[in-house]
Amino acid sequence: MPRLTLRDLSKLHAEKSKITMLTAYEASFARVMDAAGVETLLVGDSLGMVVHGRDSTLAVTLENIAYHTESVVRGAQRAFILADLPFGAYQESPQQALRSSARLMAAGAQMVKLEGGAYMAGTVAFLAERGVPVCAHIGLVPQSVHALGGFRVQGRDPQGAQRIIDDAKALAAAGASIVLMEGIPAAVAGAVTASITVPTIGIGAGPDCSGQVLVMHDMLGVPVYPPKFARNFMDGAGSVSAAIAAYIKAVKDGSFPGPENCY
Ligand code: KIV
Repeated sequence: MPRLTLRDLSKLHAEKSKITMLTAYEASFARVMDAAGVETLLVGDSLGMVVHGRDSTLAVTLENIAYHTESVVRGAQRAFILADLPFGAYQESPQQALRSSARLMAAGAQMVKLEGGAYMAGTVAFLAERGVPVCAHIGLVPQSVHALGGFRVQGRDPQGAQRIIDDAKALAAAGASIVLMEGIPAAVAGAVTASITVPTIGIGAGPDCSGQVLVMHDMLGVPVYPPKFARNFMDGAGSVSAAIAAYIKAVKDGSFPGPENCY
């Protein structure tokens, strides 16, 4: 089966079919997710927490992400693969971001994800113009955990909410192909989704996004830090494959995230 492309994701978005995404870090789980039909796999820097056991994503290196991306690409035949640009690998300059993106794309990534608001628009444009598809991650940006004073929900006050909407518009206008929103009120995520034409992917951002992502460990009930926005799809599933199928179904039919998962 041919690997999904950005055009396939645009088609899903145009058809209003919710886009499914899970994090993946190695070949075996990537193979199971792929077989279940997850459309996109994110080699997230959350691997620093759920695989390496650290209390933040900050120590993850570009080589860590490249190594895990190669494994995921070997495991998954069909899914579209995104990889995270880790902390310190892209913030210095657009040129540094391009060098780091090239390393991840050589490892098999079809898109890179970077964190930050409108101030990253120049870097997004630089990458997009040079053939690097970009997913822009806004809201609760874990690489800024110390600046944010912890893993805290963002955009709860009117100014914060407006900043998130402005960030999304600036990043989409700069050429981001996907805007991923983490840890924000559902109403803010809905306003962002309504105000840009590219797909939005939510995690702790409510149901009104173009798709959803969860960290694999959270949806399989192996949470290191169990978040309110996750659901344990292993409950009553009987197997990992069945849990992933239940996740896909719940995202597609809009029953996940439920009100209990929202801010
Ligand atoms: O690193 C990661 O897994 C992520 C998700 C939380 C979206 O960025």
